[in-house]
Amino acid sequence: MHANEIRRRFLEFFRKRGHAIIPSAPLVPENDPSVLFTTAGMQPLVPYLLGAPHPAGKRIANSQKCVRTQDIDEVGDNTHDTFFEMLGNWSLGDYFKDDAIKWSYEFLTSREEGLGLDPNRLYVTVFGGNDDAPRDEESFAIWKSLGIPEHRIYFMTTEPSGKEPNWWSPGDNGPCGPDSEMFYDVTEDGLGDLTKEEYMAADDRQEVVEIWNDVFMEYAKKDGKVTGKLTTKNVDTGAGLERLAMVMQKTDNVFATDLFAPLMTAIRTLAKNDWDERAARIVADHVRTSVFLVGDGVSPSNTDQGYILRRLLRRAVRYADTLGMPGGSLASLVPTVLDTYAEAYPDLAEASEAITGAILAEEEKFRRTLARGMKEFEKRIASGGLTGTDAFELFSTYGFPLEMTVELASEKGVTFDHAAFAEEFRRHQDLSRTASAGKFKGGLADHSEQVTMLHTATHLMLAGLRKYLGDHVHQAGSNITEERTRFDFTHPEKVPRETLDLVEAYVNEAIAHKCPMTIERMPKDAAKDRGVEGSFWDKYPETVDVYMAKAEDGTVYSQELCGGPHVKNTGDIKGTFRIIKEEASSAGVRRIKAVIE
Ligand code: ALA
Repeated sequence: MHANEIRRRFLEFFRKRGHAIIPSAPLVPENDPSVLFTTAGMQPLVPYLLGAPHPAGKRIANSQKCVRTQDIDEVGDNTHDTFFEMLGNWSLGDYFKDDAIKWSYEFLTSREEGLGLDPNRLYVTVFGGNDDAPRDEESFAIWKSLGIPEHRIYFMTTEPSGKEPNWWSPGDNGPCGPDSEMFYDVTEDGLGDLTKEEYMAADDRQEVVEIWNDVFMEYAKKDGKVTGKLTTKNVDTGAGLERLAMVMQKTDNVFATDLFAPLMTAIRTLAKNDWDERAARIVADHVRTSVFLVGDGVSPSNTDQGYILRRLLRRAVRYADTLGMPGGSLASLVPTVLDTYAEAYPDLAEASEAITGAILAEEEKFRRTLARGMKEFEKRIASGGLTGTDAFELFSTYGFPLEMTVELASEKGVTFDHAAFAEEFRRHQDLSRTASAGKFKGGLADHSEQVTMLHTATHLMLAGLRKYLGDHVHQAGSNITEERTRFDFTHPEKVPRETLDLVEAYVNEAIAHKCPMTIERMPKDAAKDRGVEGSFWDKYPETVDVYMAKAEDGTVYSQELCGGPHVKNTGDIKGTFRIIKEEASSAGVRRIKAVIE
């Protein structure tokens, strides 16, 4: 069964069971400054899991694009990839464990509507209980009633390392709860009955593979501690499409599935050196992720999302070189990725030129960096050898990868002090960690009041910019921290300070008028007709939420598509809005930094 068919079947299965199918949210979260990328299907739904009504109703399903880069060093093994699709169904205070588990089981095993997997190869884990929540007897009983033998359902408890299995939360703050995970036996002959210890060993050997997770989100977490129950009992599930494809296509790794096979074949054709499977998998993974990132508006840079994209592309160039692929090969792989995703993500093809251009340009830039680093390396060698500090400077100032220095040094028969390099490196990392503390928090930060105020102020500012500059102005990117809002918008030239003053005054007037922020739910077309502002129309479902700031005298200061969170009243914005900087961001895009003082 092709991956496209798995995705189609999943969405159809849940559509038939009353779920609204919503589009994948972009990979770069729109109003969540605390994470760089969407890392799980539930992430764009956090406000709704916390109780806000979702415009599409209480039952939702989709296939969500996700990027996770923390396991980048594992890419190349059988199951890790930096981009993946998560199939998910959600109940927002509607059905709970009974239906969630029953439907997971039905979808996995039904031949007609689902995947027709063998129930005898299924193993299930459930939450074993701790101080925060009781042992999940309910899920155990439900699985048993569906025919999974008792001895193949394992209660998982806190591990000696302190790790809590079968408890899922997106970070230190937000919704969370116990989960039940499904594993599938991928061995040729089948493992049969396993004790818990045997099952855990099989998991370590990747003989059983996790294919789905049903999370029962009824708890809330704050600063890493479970603080109590949410107002509603929700379900959040996630099944990795790549993993399901692997199981359905009976391959032992995701790179052999139809999601990757054409790409691997193209790489094989381009590679001129001895075949290196791991290197090829890394190239395939990084190119695919880069295609999706550029497709969602990221361009290579030295900060935030752009930095991750740059790292992926540069790493791909190095592995492409190992394989002996000619220069420019990475960009030539783009059409292969687009073909694979033409059905599921038709928009991606529209960005084809931008994607190819960005990948080519970054490869060229990196090659120039390499050439410069090489020259510097030669210079330092010629002037009497290489110190650890030299190696570090090559890395930090010239962007020259450490592996290259190591390789070249060994080729030339020189050594350098690795410990001194490591020491410099550590010092540098500590510094940058302190500088970015708070910004790269692993999970979802609490939507602090300051961020919420700045978010509402940003809406007002966009309305002001459109008022004074014209309707060609749209949001091109946004990033809000507790200190400031950074906002990119489409406009061809510098905005004079006088105009910025007018925009500031506009925002401050809206604050002074204490406008209630109301949410109106309406069909997308009606919103368009009313002149509602939004930059990602195709990414929203048919029914949308419009956030409006309207003064008592009827003046509408802002109406924009959004998922929140916002202050209840613009009068809750405590302070004066100030634009502190306006500068070029990229061609045709300006960037503003603004604060509330
Ligand atoms: N949010 C859950 C996960 O990512 C389903 O595993």
